[in-house]
Amino acid sequence: MERVSRRAALMAMAVVGAWTAGPGRLLARADLGNAADLPHLRLLLGRMTVEEKAGQLTLMPTAFDAAGAAFNPITPGIEFETQLKEIEAGRLGGVLNGASIEGHRRLQQAAVERSRLGIPMIFGADVIHGYKTIFPVPLAEAASFDPALAERTARAAAVEATANGLNWTFAPMVDISRDARWGRSVEGAGEDVLLGSRMAAARVRGFQGRRLSDDDAMLACPKHFAAYGAAAGGLDYAEADLSERTLRQTYLPPFKAGFDAGALSTMAAFQAVNGVPATANPWLLRKILRDEWNFEGFVVSDWTSDLELVDHGFAADEREAAKLAILAGVDMSMGSALYIKHLPDLVARNEVPIARVDEAVLRVLSVKSALGLFDRPFGRMNPARAKTQVMTRGHLALAREAARRSIVLLKNEADLLPLPRIGTRIALIGPFAQGQSDLNGTWSIFGNDKDAVDLATGLRAAMSDTGLLTVTPGSGVRESLPNGIEAAVAAAAAADVVVLAVGEAADMGGEARSRADITIPAPQQALVEAVARTGKPIVILLRTARALALEGAVLDASAILVTWFLGTQTGPAIADVLFGTVGPSGRLPVSFPQVAGQAPYHYDHPATGRPAKGTDKPERYKANFLEAPNRARFPFGHGLTYGRIAYSNYRQSALAIGAEDVLEVTATITNSGARPAQEVVQLYLRDLAASIARPVHEMKDFQLLNLAPGASRDVTFRLSASDLTFIGQDNLPTIEPGKFQVWIAPSAEAPGLTGTFELR
Ligand code: BGC
Repeated sequence: MERVSRRAALMAMAVVGAWTAGPGRLLARADLGNAADLPHLRLLLGRMTVEEKAGQLTLMPTAFDAAGAAFNPITPGIEFETQLKEIEAGRLGGVLNGASIEGHRRLQQAAVERSRLGIPMIFGADVIHGYKTIFPVPLAEAASFDPALAERTARAAAVEATANGLNWTFAPMVDISRDARWGRSVEGAGEDVLLGSRMAAARVRGFQGRRLSDDDAMLACPKHFAAYGAAAGGLDYAEADLSERTLRQTYLPPFKAGFDAGALSTMAAFQAVNGVPATANPWLLRKILRDEWNFEGFVVSDWTSDLELVDHGFAADEREAAKLAILAGVDMSMGSALYIKHLPDLVARNEVPIARVDEAVLRVLSVKSALGLFDRPFGRMNPARAKTQVMTRGHLALAREAARRSIVLLKNEADLLPLPRIGTRIALIGPFAQGQSDLNGTWSIFGNDKDAVDLATGLRAAMSDTGLLTVTPGSGVRESLPNGIEAAVAAAAAADVVVLAVGEAADMGGEARSRADITIPAPQQALVEAVARTGKPIVILLRTARALALEGAVLDASAILVTWFLGTQTGPAIADVLFGTVGPSGRLPVSFPQVAGQAPYHYDHPATGRPAKGTDKPERYKANFLEAPNRARFPFGHGLTYGRIAYSNYRQSALAIGAEDVLEVTATITNSGARPAQEVVQLYLRDLAASIARPVHEMKDFQLLNLAPGASRDVTFRLSASDLTFIGQDNLPTIEPGKFQVWIAPSAEAPGLTGTFELR
């Protein structure tokens, strides 16, 4: 078979070339170009002592008002006065997770007014899904399949955070996560490379705004570089052992998208990649990041990840850890103070070339300059803005919109939803029925629980007769309650419909919260089983940080809405969808497996030589488990609307194309239901024979489509060479002639409409 024609190889190279010049990247260059300050920065560098240089490469938790203290292992407390002295001595260039203007101002004054060279501080923080206004967790927001929405919420978060003095966010988290056991799945955009890349770029644009030097712009930091989500067994911090091809095909593209969108910092991951910790990995941090991608920003370690090289058994002691990290390409050390402690001596003894230190310092100074910090070190500390631009009506409305659009309807038997707003007796049951904790989810370190609107409050506000609503916890999250089930069953018996809010607490997802068993905790499952025996129709509201394996009465419920962690506007948004003020439009960004033991399950698994048909009965000598067919319970991309949607009339512009041509594929999407619907129409591709066993499906595009009742619309997708490119045997992008199958479908595993074409 002919493999790579010369023209095809050239095409692939052009695709790679385009990688290095996204429009965001050009903007970022312009921002950095402001560091046409560069001669001035070089002069500054020339005046710095080695200790002052190490100071610029040191990031520590703020000692003034650390909001994030609970989010990382405790470090020995630093006195505020001591921290001020460190800054004045030029031994500290940035702090993280500070919460107040006052704190930021005092630290910045120490830096610019009292340190020898007056270099401004950088103020970083984990502003992941909102600052005070908390938006849905990133995994939830990815369910909107709407990058423009993610850009808007990131923008709002940046406006709020920068008013309070922050100028750098440790976001977006762009780790592809295909193992639902991994607790940090919740922080990213799920299992798919295309969705992950679009969300990464959108979030970077949102955080960084129009110009990085604007007072409301925040430096973005795609993290954790790289393959953190590939942790073995889904265990947080465990090694990622994967082929270079998988790394390049699956885990790197969202980072690349983030850098092309202009991100000028990135964070090295905690874990090892094929044996070499990411924090001391020159192949990742130099070869790929710098030599291949020309990344011009700086690399920060993760929290004490340089020091952890010792526990990795990779460095003999912390001094060697500092040396390995800086030599590998980590420009800034977070949380451990290793650089300020050891770099001066490492340089003095010629173990670390001063040129390497200078390179790192120049990068940090350039980004500080691009952020406008030399000109306006206090520009982002704006009490007036902090009063008028935080938790505004606009931001709350956006939080409600984002929350509604993150909700995914998994099933809706006999059109149980939407519920009638009038005259229906509703029993709201479950540990998440009321209460303001657990609404914001992981990483809302600046948000207040008391600002969040809970489910019961949201439902009451939407009902004309609140007397028709009863609220019963029924169970705790992980423990039963005395008489809980009895009370819940009584409430259910007296109602027309039961709404059961079950799932995970916020502290069951996020960092260091991997789960060995991705099911609903047993006491809650028992609650649902008991309530189901009343025979009342059940709507499940699933609070979760990850894909779950649903079973028993939860799975059998008439309707299931995945409500994730939706943030400040949780209650109103869920009520909007429950009562049909808006229809559900979200799609799963992660596949929900049949059984927990299928993890890691993702829809775009490579083809095997013995594919199972995916029927319910296990097939002998085929790739399936004895207990479950080899498909998802609810696949990636799945989500229903309140409309009645049909796909028909598939057509394509050609049966064969050349490498420079564009193939158009079109389908007609019809809503024959009585309610409007927002459909997410998805395009999948399979390369039928290639020099690598390719995935059974790969999403190549998606479009959001609003369909009024009775409306029909054509959706056209355009496929070109870049969509057919993959990482070949030599680990380079390649494109090969041959046959491809294409689907226009409502999810990754729905039959959809299909055709084939040939690339000549
Ligand atoms: C996390 C990072 C985070 C950092 C600072 C680490 O534990 O892995 O994602 O940005 O802490 O809080």
